[in-house]
Amino acid sequence: MIRRLEELLKEALEELKAASTPDLVLQAKGKYVGRKGGIASFLKELGALPPEERKSAGEAINRVKAEIETGIDRLLDGFKSSDRDEKLKKERVDITLPGRRIVSGRLHPVTQVMDEIEDIFLGLGFDIAVGPEVEIDYYNFEALNFPSDHPARDMQDTFFVGGDVLLRTHTSSVQPRVMEASRPPLRVIAPGTVYRKDSDITHSPMFHQVEGFMVDSRITFSDLKGTLAHFLKSLFGPKTGVRFRPSFFPFTEPSAEVDIGCVICRGSGCRVCKGTGWLEILGAGMIHPNVFRAVKYDPESVTGFAFGLGVERIAMLKFGIDDLRLLFENDLRFLKQF
Ligand code: FA5
Repeated sequence: MIRRLEELLKEALEELKAASTPDLVLQAKGKYVGRKGGIASFLKELGALPPEERKSAGEAINRVKAEIETGIDRLLDGFKSSDRDEKLKKERVDITLPGRRIVSGRLHPVTQVMDEIEDIFLGLGFDIAVGPEVEIDYYNFEALNFPSDHPARDMQDTFFVGGDVLLRTHTSSVQPRVMEASRPPLRVIAPGTVYRKDSDITHSPMFHQVEGFMVDSRITFSDLKGTLAHFLKSLFGPKTGVRFRPSFFPFTEPSAEVDIGCVICRGSGCRVCKGTGWLEILGAGMIHPNVFRAVKYDPESVTGFAFGLGVERIAMLKFGIDDLRLLFENDLRFLKQF
């Protein structure tokens, strides 16, 4: 048996020496030390040996088995590390390459301006309210003193959804909603998206407004002027020109249109200010008694002012953008500048 064992060992070592791939080594492993391999059949023979020979025969089988297994392990390790060397050679990392820059997003210029406007009014003690963009005629027009056949409805080209439902044309719709739900004193701004059939370099069919209103027992036009002058000078700097022009809105009386000096051309006239040196940025006035009546306030005991401003116009002036449509084209080269 010992002689046959030595022969098996010799044969196994020779086969392993010739094995040029991991697969061939594994094949040899099965053939010699596998469950049905050469060593296994020697172990079966053990039982047939006389008891005094079993111990030394068992030891001899284990020695040969261990020798074959060591050879197999060494070969497999060798294949593994040469594999790794090969990989390392191929996958070399060039640590001198510059890293990939992580581009961080930023807030859209309209959002930045919106945040800034909100901060100024929060600083003056105003609360923030919101209302629906899909609105009913009543809050967008009726409660704001636009009778159903009043030509003033033509001032704002409306997108109708159907029946009484429309896309709100201004954030003034939030005024009657808030007043209905609460009592004076009120100091509120209502920022949001509004819609009109309108499109050119200073008009977009979807744009943003911030409404503001203050209602109490003795609010006057000078409160309105003081509040707006403070607001516009905080936003554009203390030297900013501000002018009030008489105007008309059904929901305010008296009404005014407020302009600031064109910061693009500094007043000399350009295509944005249409050569006037001024840019209209908001409408304002004293809240009409009929609006108070609609929300069941007594116009004899409360007064208030309201204003509504266009956020895109303000963003254009602040950042020197001469075409409002650029704000909605989502061109990263443009947006990255702010
Ligand atoms: C109004 O919408 C009134 N609700 C404002 C108001 C509120 C007056 C409270 C009195 C009291 P007007 O239609 O003028 O007013 O619009 C207000 C501002 O929105 C304008 O000054 C302008 O800056 C901006 N705006 C109007 N139309 C567009 C448009 N299509 N695209 C971008 N901005 C616009």
